[in-house]
This record gives sequence, structure tokens and C-alpha cells, in this order.
Amino acid sequence: MPKLTVITREGTETTVDGQSGLSVMEVIRDAGFDELLALCGGCCSCATCHVFVEPGFDDKLPKMSDDENDLLDSSDHRQGNSRLSCQLPFTDAVDGLRVTIAPED
Ligand code: FES
Repeated sequence: MPKLTVITREGTETTVDGQSGLSVMEVIRDAGFDELLALCGGCCSCATCHVFVEPGFDDKLPKMSDDENDLLDSSDHRQGNSRLSCQLPFTDAVDGLRVTIAPED
């Protein structure tokens, strides 16, 4: 199983096994991180699954859609490495991915 490292808002770092085929949001949620609200369930309409992605995986993750880009613009905490985790497929190709849960808007 590919591994995902999640860094919480407080800076606690945890590595979990994720099932390939889920989204990064689903892997984080299924691992019990309740600070990632993911209120819309992955429909790309809430932006409460905002994470910062550590560099090195850009070519293995899908390009940002206009919808994702617009939603991220509504966040006060947007950075250059911001993504909505429900829009990131979790696959063997991203084994070792590291994400930090963004501050709550
Ligand atoms: S879960 Fe709502 S935009 Fe990702």
C-alpha cells in the first residue's frame, strides 16, 4: 500500500497506509483526521479539504481544474502549493506524498 504522510495544523506528523484508488482526502478522512472537514464529500464545492502539498509530486498529480482554482481563491490561506485533497487521486505513483492540512478559513 502506498504511504501518505499527513501533518496536522499543530505540526504533528503521521504516516498512514492509503488504499490506492481513493482520493487523498478520503485517505486522510479514513485515517481519522477530523480537522479535515471535507464537508461536500469530494464534489469540489466546499474547499474544506485544503492541503499544502510538499514539492516533488507535481508531475504525478493532475493539473488543477478551473473549479479547484476558483475555490482555492476563496481561501485566505492559499499558497503556491495549495490543492484540494479531494481532487488528488491517491495511487502507487504518489507513494510517500506529504501534505499539511491548511488552516481553517
Ligand atoms: S471535500 Fe469539498 S472541495 Fe474537497
